[in-house]
Amino acid sequence: MTAADIVRERAGADPIDTGLILGSGLGHIAGKIGGVTIPYSDLPGFPPAGVSGHVPQLAIGELEGVRVAVLGGRAHYYEHGDPTVMRPAIETLKDLGVGAVLLTNAAGSLRTNVAPGDVMLIADHINFSGLNPLIGEATDARFVNMVDAYDPGIRSDLQRAATEEGIALIEGTYAWYSGPSFETPAEIRALGILGADAVGMSTVPEVILARFFGMKVAGLSVVTNMAAGLSSEAISHEHTKAMAPLGAAKLETILRRFLASRSHTATKS
Ligand code: HPA
Repeated sequence: MTAADIVRERAGADPIDTGLILGSGLGHIAGKIGGVTIPYSDLPGFPPAGVSGHVPQLAIGELEGVRVAVLGGRAHYYEHGDPTVMRPAIETLKDLGVGAVLLTNAAGSLRTNVAPGDVMLIADHINFSGLNPLIGEATDARFVNMVDAYDPGIRSDLQRAATEEGIALIEGTYAWYSGPSFETPAEIRALGILGADAVGMSTVPEVILARFFGMKVAGLSVVTNMAAGLSSEAISHEHTKAMAPLGAAKLETILRRFLASRSHTATKS
């Protein structure tokens, strides 16, 4: 049985409209969708439990009238050195009929006008790692077009949702740094020159994979700290987890409003 077969057996076979992948400290949303939860350990190919702040289970349920699949935790490249680690999980979303994947993460901000507790809508990314989850893929499908990888239609729907809720949602470029050590101040200065607005250790390989599998993508960064060298505050994973809930409430408000509008327009095939 594939992971998708197991999900259908336990959660029913209705197609799932939206997939959510939750970043460090943002997992509480998974607890709000009711439905069925399945530990990753029951799903072939899903990543092993890894980083604190992530909950390794798939939840299938409804949020604001939309059937959603929520990945409570992600595996990161830095855990095992494997950029393809999320491929089976993302392929499973595709197999379940997911049309759009919303990725969330915790990130450091390079912009003085985007502070801890703010949410940034990812407009584009810089792959600062040089890695790619499609290396080794043998078909021509590997040549994925990454122009408008972050779907302009979903981005404008998210912007509208944020505006309706009175939440500022600045768009910016997210840079993927492999981690697990944080960046040096010199690396952050370099990333700033390259055009990055936020930096984090995830999301980019998943975006590439989701585009490879033909799903639409959007990404939201919850800013937990100013990037290295931009503030006197010490950067740590503990700090990330402690600060994530600040932005998580905004994130949830935006997501709910977005999904509520999607429930009116979603094509449920
Ligand atoms: N850098 C990389 N990843 C992060 C950061 C950061 O400053 N904050 C939260 N995740």
